[in-house]
Amino acid sequence: MADPWQNAMDHAVAVARKAGEVVCDALRGDRAVMTKSSVVDLVTQTDQKVEQLIIQSVKEKFPTHRFIGEESVAAGEPCVLSDSPTWIIDPIDGTTNFVHAFPFVAISIGFAINKQVEFGVVFSCVEDKMFTARRGKGAFCNGEPLQVSRQEAVEQAMVATEFGSDRDADVVDKIFQSLRNILCLPVHGVRGAGSAAINMCLVASGCVEAYYEIGIHVWDVAAASLIVSEAGGVLMDVEGGDVDLMSRRIIAANSKTITERLVKAIVPFSLPRDDATPPKKS
Ligand code: IPD
Repeated sequence: MADPWQNAMDHAVAVARKAGEVVCDALRGDRAVMTKSSVVDLVTQTDQKVEQLIIQSVKEKFPTHRFIGEESVAAGEPCVLSDSPTWIIDPIDGTTNFVHAFPFVAISIGFAINKQVEFGVVFSCVEDKMFTARRGKGAFCNGEPLQVSRQEAVEQAMVATEFGSDRDADVVDKIFQSLRNILCLPVHGVRGAGSAAINMCLVASGCVEAYYEIGIHVWDVAAASLIVSEAGGVLMDVEGGDVDLMSRRIIAANSKTITERLVKAIVPFSLPRDDATPPKKS
């Protein structure tokens, strides 16, 4: 049977590529920086322009579909994942990297129906890597199939994480306690690309065994969550159990064994859920 969402996925790939051109062009010019929830939570006009470009282009083709977009939510739109077809968009995942021209930035587009991600597209535009996954049909980078690492010994693992944009001292202490616990497991190393979506694509590619973070948002991880699971990986909450994309916490790893070792090492904490903030507009 023909895939009812192939058309939408093809459109997501095409618009991600177009958005990538805008982002790469902007990387060569001046990038005026604004702040959002804190002085280190950055946004630029390029984030806003690229999100509008993606939403407008999808609306023209799929006028009844809904959207959750990072910059639209920041501007007061609701962050609601209903059963309707919903595009979950991060126009630049890795905005801080973008501001500093640190070359790991991605356009992330997830598409969910009945709250389940049906396809995910992550375009790491400086690297020119187009990561894609369709539920039940595998994950790919530039058309080549992806497979997570087969390493199950955490002592031989590489783990990715990020420090996020919360500078509350208690939160930072917990982040460092987790990092200390993980380094002392021990693991081979800890890395961070500065983009949740790219870190997760590194898990899917088998370059790191796991990625975890508390503080991410649904738009950072929706698309990449499918890329990881379709590459054979595991998604879990940092305290074990199913991942909830609105909960702002995630472990994405190559195996249940490594995930469970990380669950024991991570010092958990909770942040307000993405769907908890009332929209500014009705
Ligand atoms: C951020 C990046 C970063 C992660 C933050 C995210 P943004 O997304 O993915 O690596 O540490 O938690 O919010 O703001 O660049 O789209």
